[in-house]
Amino acid sequence: MRKPVMAGNWKMNKTVAESVDLVKKLSASLAGVSDRDIVVCPPFTSLAIVSEVLKGTSISLGAQNMNDHTDGAYTGEVAPGMLTDVGCQYVILGHSERRQYYGETDELVHKKLQLALDKKLIPIVCVGELLKEREEGRTFQVIEKQIKGGVSGLSPAQATGVIIAYEPVWAIGTGKTATPAQAQEVHFFIRGLMARIYGDAIANSVRILYGGSVKADNIDTLMAQPDIDGGLVGGASLDVNSFTRIVKFVKA
Ligand code: PGA
Repeated sequence: MRKPVMAGNWKMNKTVAESVDLVKKLSASLAGVSDRDIVVCPPFTSLAIVSEVLKGTSISLGAQNMNDHTDGAYTGEVAPGMLTDVGCQYVILGHSERRQYYGETDELVHKKLQLALDKKLIPIVCVGELLKEREEGRTFQVIEKQIKGGVSGLSPAQATGVIIAYEPVWAIGTGKTATPAQAQEVHFFIRGLMARIYGDAIANSVRILYGGSVKADNIDTLMAQPDIDGGLVGGASLDVNSFTRIVKFVKA
């Protein structure tokens, strides 16, 4: 049985005061939820304070990105050890916005992934096709390249701990969710790929999240799909009521 994970990606939103307000409300509304993993990923500036607020709650802390070096002269960057230092347990890697606006490649994602695992951070590695790629019938090809380039070459123990997020780029922030069937088709494909690379046991234990316009009103049907193990939620994670409802999705 794979434990569901719901992760909120706040992106470049929320001041320190707003972050504290949101997590205080979320810790109250989600108190006692233990049959699913809950993660919030605030901006770097809010991590330390949010970490304090979350102590003793069932919500874990994640970062949205990290550098691929442990320390040194990398102006403006944040090292993985700095994330664990402030209490992060998770880190999002290779989000499509990082790939699109900051030129992140599969090779870089792989480097970050190795380092995150070395630092005992749980990585959430994002993959997903552009609209054009889907329209040209290249979705599986694109995903295969991203998974092979980003997520292969790990030890079995490391591979088991990786979380993959399938986020079709055309569905992110657009209100256009993939249908549950479209998402399931790709999740099944990703699990099959992981089986080819790491074997069935690991593939069956790896959690694969769906992301892209996940909302309170579509989460139940998405979670009813056999290979969807949770959500990476952007816009809807900024609001206490909608993220609470998403975390408390109703099992079909
Ligand atoms: P969205 O973003 O839920 O706002 O579409 C998801 C994501 O980018 O992780």
